[in-house]
Amino acid sequence: MLFFSPFIPKSILFHNSSSTMAKSQNPFKFLVLSLSLLLPLSSAAFSPSDDHLVACGATAAAALDDHRVFLPDSECHTAHIRSYGPRVAVSNAGGLTPLHQTARVFTRPASYQFVIKEKGTHIVRLHFYPFSSSEYDLSSALFHVAAGEFSLLANFSTKVPVLKEFIIPIDSDKISLTFIPAQDSSFAFVNAIEIISAPKDLIGQIATLIKPNQTEKFNGLSSQSFETIYRLNIGGKKITPFNDSLWRTWLTEQESSVKFTDSESKTELFTGRINYLKFGASREVAPDSVYDSARLITDSNQNLSWAFNLSPNDKYLVRLHFCDIASLALDELYFNIYINGNLGKQDFDLSQAVNRLATPYYIDYITNTDNSGLLNIIINPSNFSEPNWVQGLLNGLEVFKMNKTERGMDEEIPVAFLMVRRGIGEFVKSVLCGFVVAGLLVGLVVLGMRWRTESRGNLGWSEMEFVEGKLGREYQMVPKFEI
Ligand SMILES: *[C@@H]1O[C@H](CO)[C@@H](O)[C@H](O)[C@H]1NC(C)=O
Ligand SMILES: *[C@@H]1O[C@H](CO)[C@@H](O)[C@H](O)[C@H]1NC(C)=O
Ligand SMILES: *[C@@H]1O[C@H](CO)[C@@H](O)[C@H](O)[C@H]1NC(C)=O
Ligand SMILES: *[C@@H]1O[C@H](CO)[C@@H](O)[C@H](O)[C@H]1NC(C)=O
Ligand SMILES: *[C@@H]1O[C@H](CO)[C@@H](O)[C@H](O)[C@H]1NC(C)=O
Repeated sequence: MLFFSPFIPKSILFHNSSSTMAKSQNPFKFLVLSLSLLLPLSSAAFSPSDDHLVACGATAAAALDDHRVFLPDSECHTAHIRSYGPRVAVSNAGGLTPLHQTARVFTRPASYQFVIKEKGTHIVRLHFYPFSSSEYDLSSALFHVAAGEFSLLANFSTKVPVLKEFIIPIDSDKISLTFIPAQDSSFAFVNAIEIISAPKDLIGQIATLIKPNQTEKFNGLSSQSFETIYRLNIGGKKITPFNDSLWRTWLTEQESSVKFTDSESKTELFTGRINYLKFGASREVAPDSVYDSARLITDSNQNLSWAFNLSPNDKYLVRLHFCDIASLALDELYFNIYINGNLGKQDFDLSQAVNRLATPYYIDYITNTDNSGLLNIIINPSNFSEPNWVQGLLNGLEVFKMNKTERGMDEEIPVAFLMVRRGIGEFVKSVLCGFVVAGLLVGLVVLGMRWRTESRGNLGWSEMEFVEGKLGREYQMVPKFEI
């Protein structure tokens, strides 16, 4: 029984029998309490305390279809850039969405700094749309990306649009995202950045570790880092950021490269209300549209399987989302779950886990792949199943790669590049952002030129003016000793 189980005190599951006193004393209060336990939550959209949405290289705010607005990185209130060299804004008028239309190119290491209001798990999304501008063909970029001193991407390059999503713990009040060209001759780019606080329950503490022929409890999930590799709405439609509580995209099985054996199996679409339990998986863990569709086993000789091709030397977090939208009654659904041929759960009883139909539940597994990099998930009927019952189902499936070392998702990036310099840069920023009188600005320029001369040859972070093209040059404001 080593699966992640949302905390549901017995007194809540069985409130009808245990709350008779409350009922007799104050029937209204009892009613409110009962209703609140089945919180529909629909109106209360998640509002993250940290919510940095940056359109890199943009000159104006970029409004997306999902109602989010990405602010340009040349504006003071969004992000603070430090760079060793020039940072060029490039644009592509033909881009499909506003975020496809601009990018920031760095030929030397550069970093964005963000203020973190609330420590804890954050979602970091990096948008890469490799268009070709007159100056740069972004598909030939080759670079590393780090969050603080933790490496996210090493030797990264892409010829197709990609959205990289990471879920990482941040326990400082600032985070810098650093872009480092992999070689002297290469460059880095990024089109957009999202850093948002994750809901508290997105990553729990406990998962089930799959080992050959046994499972173990894995404790400390929330201190790990993850990269999202697959996010699938099983048996349903594609879900876009517009319709997701955390602005995620859930692909269908057909749209992704997953191999699933029984594409002929029955799918179920549910039009009733999904019951999010107050102490169970919330709508932020996965939205209604994940839970209101599923693929089903309706025949005892049938099994459902999904196979992913992954890199063989990594560990993965596999999150299986369940919601019984198909059974006619409680206690009529039992199935087995196999991860790479190992029994993850025998005779799994969703009714026992949540005690209601149409109620979300998920299980987190940590697993390796097989030697060839294959990750295989099979659901098959339990020996408890009866012929006229639904004999297995799955609503959603996520696969996250876990950090390979303490310092990074993959390879480590040389630490020398990741030092966060502090000092006068902050002051300069506040002055420039405040649009202080011209005299002071001129004074700073002169001061800056002096510093530049003095620090020539030093690898100090430079501060560039914040309004593109206005001062038209770069000033070395931060001497090396301020590391
Ligand atoms: C959002 O979901 C609704 C209901 O499923 C659907 O009709 C609509 O097309 C979706 N919108 C987007 C932008 O995906
Ligand atoms: C799944 O079904 C196939 C045939 O459809 C069968 O060969 C295989 O043994 C089954 N696997 C499990 C784990 O039930
Ligand atoms: C189901 O029952 C068969 C026969 O009793 C047994 O061999 C098998 O191990 C059982 N399988 C599971 C997953 O419980
Ligand atoms: C991933 O990071 C966590 C937190 O730093 C660390 O405890 C864990 O050992 C790392 N994983 C590996 C495989 O090094
Ligand atoms: C990038 O790739 C080169 C050549 O394959 C390798 O030598 C280097 O260690 C890699 N750098 C990182 C940070 O992974």
